[in-house]
Amino acid sequence: MTIRKVGVVGCGLMGGGIAQTCAQSGYETVVREVNQELLDKGLARIYSAWEMMLSKSKLTQGQVDENRSRLHGTLDLADFADCDLVIEAVIENMEEKLRLFPVLDRIVKPEALLLTNTSSLNITQMGAVTKRPEKVCGLHFFNPAPVMKLVEVVKTISSSEDTIETVKQFAISLGKTTVLAKDTAGFIVNFLLIPYLIAAIRMLENGQASRDDIDTAMKLGCGYPMGPFTLLDYVGLDTTLWAAEAIYEEYKDPLYAPPPLLRRMVQSGIYGKKSGKGFYNYQ
Ligand code: CAA
Repeated sequence: MTIRKVGVVGCGLMGGGIAQTCAQSGYETVVREVNQELLDKGLARIYSAWEMMLSKSKLTQGQVDENRSRLHGTLDLADFADCDLVIEAVIENMEEKLRLFPVLDRIVKPEALLLTNTSSLNITQMGAVTKRPEKVCGLHFFNPAPVMKLVEVVKTISSSEDTIETVKQFAISLGKTTVLAKDTAGFIVNFLLIPYLIAAIRMLENGQASRDDIDTAMKLGCGYPMGPFTLLDYVGLDTTLWAAEAIYEEYKDPLYAPPPLLRRMVQSGIYGKKSGKGFYNYQ
């Protein structure tokens, strides 16, 4: 199957990054948000990324104009009807996803693939609420999606080999390297990353070391680009909490149990960089 037109549901941190990546890789891209304010905010973030790339001579003015002409914002899922592939990147909430997938299934042409960018939720269940479970799989990007080279292709027990092969080739056309994971909570990266992030929060809770020293230790001691608290703020504390809860729910392994501090910060609207405050202050 040839992919020409891509739909992205959600223009937040991840959806916006995915839409940017698709449009700048030559795909006609439609991105949908739930209201005009969020759509304008998401599109503005993409446009400013292209301006930044222009200022660094990574794009020409002609390429910026072409990218912009390929990217279409909408508030209406019906605009996905003729997409060849749709990537869902809405909030990490299973009820929300289970409401969305049957709607997409009714709207989008029957031969199209329906993908989810979920980082840890059950994709088999999302496929099961459609009439095309063999055309449903995961395509999990990493933040910032236009920069990070990896995507996880996640095969459910129902995804067909054709679907997986098409999705792999699509990801390669976006300039990404793919890894294949089974549909188990956390896939590969979050199964390993979440316990590390959680352990850093527990160290802080226990007073073992300061935020800054933990960050410096992991940055300089392990050569990581960011320490765990900078990364937590970057990924989003809400996203980290949802991922931890989803993996904990699946395995009941205390390694994934969200620390009280993380839960309370999220309950207080402290989500990290995107909310202006996390373990660090961005205001
Ligand atoms: N579009 C295009 N280019 C972008 C961009 C965007 N939206 N955002 C950044 N860039 C480019 C910058 O222009 C810059 O390019 P040059 O090197 O050519 O100048 C490059 O990316 C690096 O950006 P910066 O110079 O701003 O900053 P940096 O060198 O500190 O790198 C970083 C930033 C890439 C985020 C780096 O710090 C990093 O790799 N951090 C770790 C990120 C990570 O681990 N992400 C995964 C999180 S887990 C996740 O997402 C999954 C989940 O489910 C929770």
